[in-house]
Amino acid sequence: MADILIKNARIITCKSNGPKMGAEMQDLGVIENGFVAVDNGIITDVGYGEGEEFKVRHTEIIDAEGRLVMPGLVDPHTHLVHYGSRENELELKLKGASYIDILKSGGGILSTVSATRAASFEKLTDKVVSSLDLMLQWGTTTVEAKSGYGLNFVDEVKSLEVLKNVKHPIDIVKTYMGAHAVPTEYKSDKEGYINLMIDRIIPYIAENQLAEFIDCFCEEGVFSVSESESILLKGKEFGLKIKLHADEIEPMGGAQLAGRLSAVSAEHLVAASDEGIEEMKNAGVIPVLLPGTSFYLRLGRYARARKMIEAGMPVALATDYNPGTCPTESLQSIMVFASMGMGMTPQEVISAMTINSAHAINRGNIVGSIEKGKKADIIIMDAPNENYIVYHFGINHVATVIKDGKIVIKDKERQ
Ligand code: NIG
Ligand code: FE
Repeated sequence: MADILIKNARIITCKSNGPKMGAEMQDLGVIENGFVAVDNGIITDVGYGEGEEFKVRHTEIIDAEGRLVMPGLVDPHTHLVHYGSRENELELKLKGASYIDILKSGGGILSTVSATRAASFEKLTDKVVSSLDLMLQWGTTTVEAKSGYGLNFVDEVKSLEVLKNVKHPIDIVKTYMGAHAVPTEYKSDKEGYINLMIDRIIPYIAENQLAEFIDCFCEEGVFSVSESESILLKGKEFGLKIKLHADEIEPMGGAQLAGRLSAVSAEHLVAASDEGIEEMKNAGVIPVLLPGTSFYLRLGRYARARKMIEAGMPVALATDYNPGTCPTESLQSIMVFASMGMGMTPQEVISAMTINSAHAINRGNIVGSIEKGKKADIIIMDAPNENYIVYHFGINHVATVIKDGKIVIKDKERQ
């Protein structure tokens, strides 16, 4: 029995026990001429042939001939909840101002903080919904979302409550990131802000289950390694799992810290050292790489994806969607930077945006692959094969999106 039967499909299953490590990322578990049966929001079978036996009680048959069927994309790192935009910084950047210069002069993150604080709950919700709509259209079905533009008790809680209450098909995994910048009112009292997080905000957020993860911007001029460590450990004490913005711009030793704390993931890693990568590997920390940010910051260098894959690590990819360093909701856009900037193959890119990114947010047993028993989060791409998606870049290949077993985006050409 099935509610939906997809047939005649080239199915990219991304099947895996656990995250795909290193060379395993090249194997997408492709089934040529296969079927997927969906019942009650769950994938009930996947196999070769037409799935004849499932036609007994189908409500919908999708003929996916010439299309590519793959798991819904999982974006494991976004700064989804914020207000306003920062196109004004584009010109400053082109004239040579660095990201940290803009931040120190009260712009950057801090200007988004002012806009986010001033936005009502409803306005913030509307903005989040319009971003989620775009994500869904471009094939993302699960997203991690961080707070970090409130930077005080009320507005951090407001941001996480927006994420908790928003009604949208996309599943959201929430992260508290109060340690995103030091707010202006604590400019000369960073310790005071750290104490506010440690003494009040983290306990409140954990006790009210407003976040599952904690994250921290460990960067020169933002939070040091030891400051990051004390903030993250406080989160851990309250049951939050650890993520970390590590070695994005300067080699701070963030990757080592992620290893030492056995973080679930460490993000960016553009400047991560060999020792840092080794320590992450030994501790099983998933590297979440954000090549769109390297490109958009004009860093001229990318995280060393090839080194990590060759070391056998399970690389994941994310947008880093935020109004400063990567203003795009589209994981498909990130594919080309991962491939051209970091040398990842299309197969590695897809593993990194499905099964590995699901593991980077602790959802690897629920989403990220087309396997029996997993959520029916499936996208159908108007592309003949997986290479084509990365090759023909900058456009949206999504034809159909199935989320929790429901068709939420319909194939315009086949209705
Ligand atoms: O991941 N690095 C810190 N946070 C974001 C940028 C946030 C912003 O500029 O608004 C990032 O790059
Ligand atoms: Fe980020």
